[in-house]
Amino acid sequence: MKKIIILFLFYSFTSAQNKTVEEKIDSVLSLMTIDEKVGQLVQYSGGWDTGTQTVRPNEDHEKLISQGKVGSFLNVFGAEATKRLQKIALEQSRLKIPLIFGLDVIHGFRSIFPVPLAESCTWEPDLVERSARLQATESASTGLHWTFNPMVDIARDPRWGRIVEGSGEDPYLGSLMARARVKGYQGNNLADNNSIIACAKHFAGYGAAEGGRDYNTVDISERTFREIYLKPFHAAVEAGVGTLMGSFNEIGGIPQSASHFLLTDVLRKEWGFKGFVVSDWNSIGELIPHGVAKNLEEAAKLGIEAGIDMDMEASAYYNHLADLVNRGKISIDVLNESVRRVLRIKFYLGLFDDPFKYCNADLEKKTILNSEIVNATREVAKRSIVLLKNENQLLPLKKNISKIAVLGPLANSKDDPLGPWAAQGKPEDVITVVEGLKNKLGNKTEIIYEEGCKVDGNSREGFPKAIQAAKESDIVILCVGESRGMSAEARSRAYLDLPGVQEEFVKEIYKTRKPIVVVLMNGRPLTINWISQNVPAILEAWYLGIQSGNAIADVLFGDYNPSGKLTTTFPRYVGQIPIYYNHKMTGRPHDKSNFYTSYYFDLENTPLYPFGFGLSYTSFKYSNLSLSQNKMNINESITVTVNVTNSGKYEGEEVVQLYIRDLVGSVTRPVKELKDFKKVLLKPGETKKVDFIITEEKLKFYDVNMNYVSEPGDFKVFVGTNSEDLLEASFALEK
Ligand code: BGC
Repeated sequence: MKKIIILFLFYSFTSAQNKTVEEKIDSVLSLMTIDEKVGQLVQYSGGWDTGTQTVRPNEDHEKLISQGKVGSFLNVFGAEATKRLQKIALEQSRLKIPLIFGLDVIHGFRSIFPVPLAESCTWEPDLVERSARLQATESASTGLHWTFNPMVDIARDPRWGRIVEGSGEDPYLGSLMARARVKGYQGNNLADNNSIIACAKHFAGYGAAEGGRDYNTVDISERTFREIYLKPFHAAVEAGVGTLMGSFNEIGGIPQSASHFLLTDVLRKEWGFKGFVVSDWNSIGELIPHGVAKNLEEAAKLGIEAGIDMDMEASAYYNHLADLVNRGKISIDVLNESVRRVLRIKFYLGLFDDPFKYCNADLEKKTILNSEIVNATREVAKRSIVLLKNENQLLPLKKNISKIAVLGPLANSKDDPLGPWAAQGKPEDVITVVEGLKNKLGNKTEIIYEEGCKVDGNSREGFPKAIQAAKESDIVILCVGESRGMSAEARSRAYLDLPGVQEEFVKEIYKTRKPIVVVLMNGRPLTINWISQNVPAILEAWYLGIQSGNAIADVLFGDYNPSGKLTTTFPRYVGQIPIYYNHKMTGRPHDKSNFYTSYYFDLENTPLYPFGFGLSYTSFKYSNLSLSQNKMNINESITVTVNVTNSGKYEGEEVVQLYIRDLVGSVTRPVKELKDFKKVLLKPGETKKVDFIITEEKLKFYDVNMNYVSEPGDFKVFVGTNSEDLLEASFALEK
């Protein structure tokens, strides 16, 4: 208590109530030595090492804190653990500057929500915001101030394992999801005790790795970079994101952790970002293997001068920054500016007022896995599921089936539904599909579970028992896909088929002639041609988190009518990759009657499932697409109206999608771009009029001089149920 009073006196001295945050930062800065300033820019991981070649200091963490040589930790959490370290900072370090604790809360802390790619398939930014809000509440209760999320990298290549962490291939949808997550994590006021600071990552272009191989070279034009990859980052900054994380990749010869253009010119000067940038794990150290720094000292100089404020785990700043400043190799202003940015976030979080605000073990106990959060994980999970096929209305299933065979390596897995980056998610919290079906059906239905085979490997030993189970049952639910570690960081794949003998297993079960529903659990689009041609019903269930089995049972039995839509294109074969809906026309668009056009002579150009695709148990009809006018000038708008009718038997939700194409520009434009969407609920037989407003803003792009403008000319508007199945109209923009 005495210590806290001393602390209070100290800060009331340096930061009188009426001072602005900037003045308070000035007072703190004026008291700091160069070493203490550098300390604010150093981040270490508590007890966790990735095995990368990082140079860790010899002193232990506690000593570093007491010396003011570390400003942040990642992978330290829990009310007690964070309190212990924070106390050292406040009681033993000279300036008593609070630490900031960060963790990868990517889809939940302990109550695990669906992976971000799955959540994006809801096309419901408000729901995604709520998910992030609850994740923040749980994380904050455990001492955390900061999540390294949202991951807003656009990904057009499903070979890249980290596609699972983002919101898919589209910059517009990706921007809405980025904004929703930033708002959700940060809340209305960062100083609230259930708000944590968000971190948009990985800045930038990381998802465009050549060949889909993680960490690989990226080489894209500035136009594609700005139009596709930077858009969600800009949206996150506009939404007030407090931090960004640099990325591992280079673009055009410049590793992004040394890119002054990106981190200073674009981020700070163009976008006016006021928060701080943390490096990715050792990404400053990796400037050496990249070949732009001879040693760690050069790497430190490149990193800080480009605009990386905090060094995660490279020890480059720890070892070299003070010396570089003392020798005049780096200006003190550069150092001060980075420290200022870090302190600013600590002030905004209210850490100077109450450094222990998140260290409350009682609150932690009450919050972790509380029923509000757990119920929300189920709600989000069922809305994330995408129905890919439903021949002859096999689904929804009737609840009076007498015997169901639930087969496959993922049918009763307690671990895989957690997905990658599951923070403190525990298998014991997970409801498997087998359990979810039992919860739904009670004792009335007999459920026989057989694993059949493993996700990976060659063993077919389990086939006979599973085949027997299928033969004895009325229907088979077959859960196949990838294990949770297969779609993650450093988990790129060159094949996108079901791993191991799973497809063979599906074929064997198919031979029993029983009705089959395939439930896919995976973190990326897979090439499932045979299944899509032969199996009557397919549910894409991704990794849905702790309530996975209950959510899947809700959908299988029609307690929830699926409404998810894909946010990534499913290729037929790997050879089509990259395949995405908003591609360019080319000078020779494919024409079946002309040999010399852009196509594969051994495969059609179209995907297996297009962007925006997803079925419902009901059917929707689109009609009467009309525009309020077919000409507009830049100050006007056009209202697009379409009638959507529920022409089936069930109440259901439809994501009505609006795409636009600019027919002639000073530069080539995509064949279509998503510009708006609305999710509407319709009763059977009901028709709703759905409106969209087109303003000049929706028509802008980077012109030949990289100015963000609209150009007069003709446009097409498309409205429909997915990116391929669309009604069309036209209008002109006049200036
Ligand atoms: C990943 C980041 C993550 C960081 C800290 C890195 O390997 O690329 O996304 O935030 O580790 O765990």
